[in-house]
Amino acid sequence: MEKNFKRHLITAALPYANGSVHIGHLAGVYVPADIYCRYLRLKGEEVLYICGSDEHGVPITFKAKDLGCSPQDIVDKYHAIIKDSFNRFGISFNIYSRTSSAIHHKTAAEFFSKMYNDGKFIEQESEQYFDPEANAFLADRYIVGQCPKCGNEGAYGDQCEKCGSTLSPEELINPHSRLSGETPIKKRTKHWFLPLDRDEKWLKQWILEDHKEWKSNVYGQCKSWLDGGLKPRAVTRDLDWGVPVPIEEGKGKVLYVWFDAPIGYISNTKELLPNDWEKWWKSEETRLVHFIGKDNIVFHCIVFPSMLKNYGDGFILPDNVPANEFLNLEGDKISTSRNWAIWLEEYLEDFKGQQDVLRYVLCANAPETKDNDFTWKDFQVRNNSELVAIYGNFVNRALVLTHKYFDGKVPTFSKEDLTEIDKNVIETIPQIVKNLEECLSNFKFREAIKEAMNLARLGNKYLTDTEPWKVYKENPKRVATILNLSLQLCANLAIAFEPFCPFSSKKLQYLLGWIEKNEEVCPTSKIDKLVDWKNLGRTDLMKDGEQINTPELLFNKIEDETIDAQIQRLERIKKENEEKAKLEESANLKAEPLKDECTIEDFDKIDIRTATVLEAEAVPKTDKLLKLTIDTGVDKRVIVSGIAQYYKPEDMIGRQITILANLKPRTIRGIESKGMILMAKEPNGNMRFITPQEALSNGAKIG
Ligand code: MF3
Ligand code: ZN
Repeated sequence: MEKNFKRHLITAALPYANGSVHIGHLAGVYVPADIYCRYLRLKGEEVLYICGSDEHGVPITFKAKDLGCSPQDIVDKYHAIIKDSFNRFGISFNIYSRTSSAIHHKTAAEFFSKMYNDGKFIEQESEQYFDPEANAFLADRYIVGQCPKCGNEGAYGDQCEKCGSTLSPEELINPHSRLSGETPIKKRTKHWFLPLDRDEKWLKQWILEDHKEWKSNVYGQCKSWLDGGLKPRAVTRDLDWGVPVPIEEGKGKVLYVWFDAPIGYISNTKELLPNDWEKWWKSEETRLVHFIGKDNIVFHCIVFPSMLKNYGDGFILPDNVPANEFLNLEGDKISTSRNWAIWLEEYLEDFKGQQDVLRYVLCANAPETKDNDFTWKDFQVRNNSELVAIYGNFVNRALVLTHKYFDGKVPTFSKEDLTEIDKNVIETIPQIVKNLEECLSNFKFREAIKEAMNLARLGNKYLTDTEPWKVYKENPKRVATILNLSLQLCANLAIAFEPFCPFSSKKLQYLLGWIEKNEEVCPTSKIDKLVDWKNLGRTDLMKDGEQINTPELLFNKIEDETIDAQIQRLERIKKENEEKAKLEESANLKAEPLKDECTIEDFDKIDIRTATVLEAEAVPKTDKLLKLTIDTGVDKRVIVSGIAQYYKPEDMIGRQITILANLKPRTIRGIESKGMILMAKEPNGNMRFITPQEALSNGAKIG
């Protein structure tokens, strides 16, 4: 299929610029797309890899409001972080731009205008929630209230994050605006809709008939949307952050983020190639491929194609939309709000120079056909027993032996004493290459990386079977052949691994004497002479007598301590989340109703003082009582208190507390108790004593 195309326009979903990039994004979208682009470039294909930040949408405005800054501040901050971390991770975009750019605003507005003028939208008035105080229409997310399903007070108009139910604002109990706290009212407003129902027929033909080759998860989702019947979708919103609707009647409104964002692929291409972008977007010779996560399928397979087709003017439609499923982390769904993620920029700090390990693991374990789990143990095992023990080990053995026996010069291969073992290796290499190519062309990157590793497996087995270290003394010529072939395998590995692990591939190319040290790992156009996919499978890449460099390890073992530190970090986060959840739960419980009114005279009878605990011990044969000796500033006395469930004796010693000092003494379990410790009881029944915020002198009168 590919060969009919002249060039490849590869896009990766634009990440929202309201947080950093995590392993879920990487495994789902950016690593597979990067592997694919690198593969195509090695084949000498003309490729553009387009991405950028998605800087509109409601969540960005919220984050800004929460932090007391502007949405622009938020996107400026995260755009810079994301762009930099992608670059350091070796993601080889031709451009990484952003949707707040002037060129994007212009392109998106023009896109809307043309469609509007061509009568491609329908106008519809409807009742929407409106905040009279803030004088603004409210997106569903802007409305909070009690969840009708679980009682959570902080449910949003579109979803309850506690129980996961999808909601509509109408269902919320006591809805109020997140802007002003006021109860929203309904108000009429006009919006423009893309009537997808008009496109149903050609979409069905185009996807269900003409693109049966799409991945089954993608095809399946499209089919269920199409079978369910498409409805018009609003492409404008009552918001003040986004691309302004470019017509008079649309004043004060913006384009819906899902309308403007995919146009970002076009704007970013324009920004990169102001004079040449049209040949990429409007030529049947271009193959357009969108890499996305599964939550983006409908937008890329149905909505954006409908926009492109209705816009007309020769825009092409995607030839494929390889969407991945989700990656979980240690058995739990990745969540930005719960900080349950491995953030790229943190990984780059904690694992300096080890980009390829994460790239390898995320590819080998990619959620291609079903959700998958990332665990730190698996990460360690894949590094230590695959990258180090198979790939790194083979290369190291081949290079070290070449230095040991031949001063680091490529020894001569003698065709005349070829053995069955050699023949087998020479025949197997092209077979592996064929499989590798087939997997890569069909977006099967997990299988592809296994095939690449099979080249190293083959090499290790070859050295074990031929044992050159035993043969050298009697037959150095035979060893020359063995090492020559081993070096040819190393050369194949350098090419085969370039799409997956470009950093170590570059290092290997240096060790083989092909390039200088520290060469750029993100070449978006130039291809090293030898690192050409066409050369893969050949066994004459290393020439007799060529000097190779002093061996260095390609990968290093990752120790338990390193992994334990990461696991502990996650455990800490889990604990914090549990505590937060508990707090929220108790905040959701109602406080007890107030007691009957009292007078100041009633209160005046009570003498409340600060005191310090001097000694504390459990009262024998009880599990509730502690005997405390305290300094009240006036006297030293004993109080028996029923707090053993909540505090251990050693927690109490030295702490300042508040007491009801003039309570009539009582004898409890044979101990005279003078006074009572004041405790606060939370709605969930938890008891805490009250310690003054700053240390006070004992006997201070409270009232
Ligand atoms: N920002 C979206 C997300 O993270 C993806 C946008 S893709 C684009 O889900 F096509 F709209 F750009
Ligand atoms: Zn709920």
